[in-house]
Amino acid sequence: MAVKETSITYIDGKMGRLFYRGYSIFDLAEFSSFEEVAFLLWKNKLPNMRELESFKKTMSEHRDLPDQVMEYLTNVDPSSNPMDVLRTAVSMIGTADTSQDDIMTKSIKLTSKIPTLITAFQRIRSGEQPIPPDPSLSHASNFLYMLSGEKPTEIEERAMDVALILHADHEMNASTFACLVIASTLSDIYSSVIGGISALKGPLHGAANSEALKMFLEIGSPEKVEEYVYKRLSRKERLMGFGHRIYKTYDPRAIILRSYADKVTKLKGNHHLYEIARKVEDLAVRTLGEKGIYPNVDFYSGLVFYSLGFSPGFFPTVFASSRVVGWTAQVMEYLNDNRLIRPKAIYVGDVEKPYVPIEDRS
Ligand code: CMC
Repeated sequence: MAVKETSITYIDGKMGRLFYRGYSIFDLAEFSSFEEVAFLLWKNKLPNMRELESFKKTMSEHRDLPDQVMEYLTNVDPSSNPMDVLRTAVSMIGTADTSQDDIMTKSIKLTSKIPTLITAFQRIRSGEQPIPPDPSLSHASNFLYMLSGEKPTEIEERAMDVALILHADHEMNASTFACLVIASTLSDIYSSVIGGISALKGPLHGAANSEALKMFLEIGSPEKVEEYVYKRLSRKERLMGFGHRIYKTYDPRAIILRSYADKVTKLKGNHHLYEIARKVEDLAVRTLGEKGIYPNVDFYSGLVFYSLGFSPGFFPTVFASSRVVGWTAQVMEYLNDNRLIRPKAIYVGDVEKPYVPIEDRS
């Protein structure tokens, strides 16, 4: 059953096609930037040059974090799950203004701040000082700059930009639905986003990327792929980064990310991980393809994030940093014609049972 009508994202799961506001994901990945895609998803049009410049400037002005959030990142247990830290920090940012008006401005601010939050926590965890944002850099470039303290190369910046574009929205996935359920009660946008983060945290959704990377690291060399995959499948264990409820063929995002995984692993000297991934892909498609199980976005994204310097525990937070655009765009669209989401359950229990006083119960 459909939850709403939408003009944001269209997925053709049979043919493996994906469109944001009618534009093919292949064109957007090739020609646009994350800022352009955010503008498109939120405002339903591609920006012209003047609009894009002004939008980029607005986004870059909102990258700083409130002092109390920085303090929290410094004092929180460094072994905490980064998704839990992200969830709490977004809640802290939201406490300052939980009004229901101007969701667009709040969404822009949050999207601008999340990379600062993620990179600060990864650095603090490794005993390093957070690096303040550089407003002269693009969203993707600044993200990587705040992570390493060095301006990224062209390939790194492009890989990051494309990865963010590809994760920005995906119709009615579990985390987006969680956001809508919360928004439909006329709660505030931060509460919706916190719900989205909480749903995305699970390994069947946003954390499959780190699980896929762990699998490549565990395999260790291309020669060991065959034994590993057959063993895992014979034990009925799932291959992470494979399968999708909607796509019954290649997820187009996996195809695009595969070429960036190739480029960044070459650049970073860990191309053997890419070779392992390719072998897993070939073998698994041959084995599972007839069931409609193919690589999804998470299969190669972890390898890209890892090569760009993110620790595996942070991959879902990077996913969230981009998906926040889709969550908020979908919420704004839903609220144009809001109806409280109140599904039904199918009751299979008894009714009219006689109440037994506690002293008579066995
Ligand atoms: N590896 C091996 N077998 C699989 C896999 C997999 N990754 N995924 C599904 N199957 C098999 C499953 O065992 C079942 O086989 P059988 O019919 O013999 O019992 C059949 O395919 C159907 O599985 P299902 O669980 O009913 O299918 P679903 O549509 O509910 O699954 C899924 C969707 C994403 C939960 C599942 O494919 C999965 O667990 N994948 C691994 C986790 C993953 O990569 N998640 C990321 C999803 S995409 C990005 C995102 O949303 O965040």
